[in-house]
Amino acid sequence: MKFTYQNATQIFFGQGQISKISDAIDSQSKVLFLYGGGSIKKNGVYEQTKQALTNHQWLEFSGVEANPTKETLDKAIDVCKQENIDFILAVGGGSVIDGAKYVAAGALYDGDAWDILIGKYTPETALPIGAILTIPATGSESNGNSVITKSETQQKMAFAAQCVLPVFAVMDPDVMKTLPEKQLANGVVDAFVHVCEQYITKNAGAMVQDGYSETLLRTLKSLGDSFNERDDAWRANLMLAANQALNGFIGSGVEQDWSTHMIGHELTALWHVDHARSLAIVQPSLLRNQIEHKRAKLEQMGRNVFALEQSDDLAESTIDAIEAFYNSLNVATQLTEHGDDKQGAIDAVVSRLEGLNYVSLSENGTVTPVEVRQILTNAVA
Ligand code: NZQ
Ligand code: ZN
Repeated sequence: MKFTYQNATQIFFGQGQISKISDAIDSQSKVLFLYGGGSIKKNGVYEQTKQALTNHQWLEFSGVEANPTKETLDKAIDVCKQENIDFILAVGGGSVIDGAKYVAAGALYDGDAWDILIGKYTPETALPIGAILTIPATGSESNGNSVITKSETQQKMAFAAQCVLPVFAVMDPDVMKTLPEKQLANGVVDAFVHVCEQYITKNAGAMVQDGYSETLLRTLKSLGDSFNERDDAWRANLMLAANQALNGFIGSGVEQDWSTHMIGHELTALWHVDHARSLAIVQPSLLRNQIEHKRAKLEQMGRNVFALEQSDDLAESTIDAIEAFYNSLNVATQLTEHGDDKQGAIDAVVSRLEGLNYVSLSENGTVTPVEVRQILTNAVA
């Protein structure tokens, strides 16, 4: 266990906290207020933000899509450059906040910002970002990750950089009241899989990280089980759990396996499957495929998260319990969006992963194109 960890995002958590941005953003800053398709105009978040920016000079840029595109975000970069923007306020979910990170780094770069995604440019400086979170799921509000899609080529790619870590994140659970149930269920599943990707690897005896991961998993499971009895406490607990699931701590000093995400991103790029739903499709099948590498951890999860009894097939039962949990939230674990051509769909995903050189995914490098084919054979309807 050896790691360096820092998470400097200031968190303003709780009802009414949006007003705190008035002081959190330097009053001399010229702010770009970045948001998505307009949900914030229906739940008062836009008005509250505007109110809090009364003493600031600001411009707005709307229309950042779910699964944000380079094409849209490049226009925001142009605005930053032309208008000498010096602070980006991202108001939305993972898509808007991820988009803000691309814009913040791209605004200080002379070339095509897509260079960041293809590894041609490594950003070490970016405009400062503040986030007002409207959907708990990704943890993007206090991490340095960003996932961007290039529509032209249907590529969905990720980058991570310390310089795009938001300086603050406002998490007011009240903003979730307007979220459609489907988006809320997505949030529970995405956060659950984030913990799994950092937890279901080798059993390395990391008691603190494992214990905290199990607390988060049990919390998310219990929130899923009480989905129909949502109240203020339910929303606050989900918002905090999703944040802690991917703020870097539980993954510190332990092996991680992001192969469910890497394969899932291709389902989103090709068939626009919601991010969380892509994970629910891939993960149970991937775990069954990799069960021998992950047996000890699956057994531990079965005991400590799902309260299952010790048995010879405890790891198998744990995967069944994970799958049943997603299904209980009306989140499917089979891909149907691809139409009738199952073989064509599998070939497309495998060849795209090969194109990205993702040919030995997982903590062991054992998720090869042969395994991906097997995983998808069981995950595609
Ligand atoms: O655009 P608007 O109108 O705001 O509508 C959004 C959007 O359509 C709507 N919404 C958000 N807050 C709402 C609301 N509707 C009503 N009331 C509210 N309070 O919800 C829709 C989905 O929003 P989106 O931001 O796309 O959802 P999410 O937070 O799940 O973000 C998904 C994106 O994050 C990436 C995913 O790949 C995907 O592109 N990820 C980012 C990660 C990170 N930065 O660490 C990790 C994740 O694994 C993930 O890959
Ligand atoms: Zn995710």
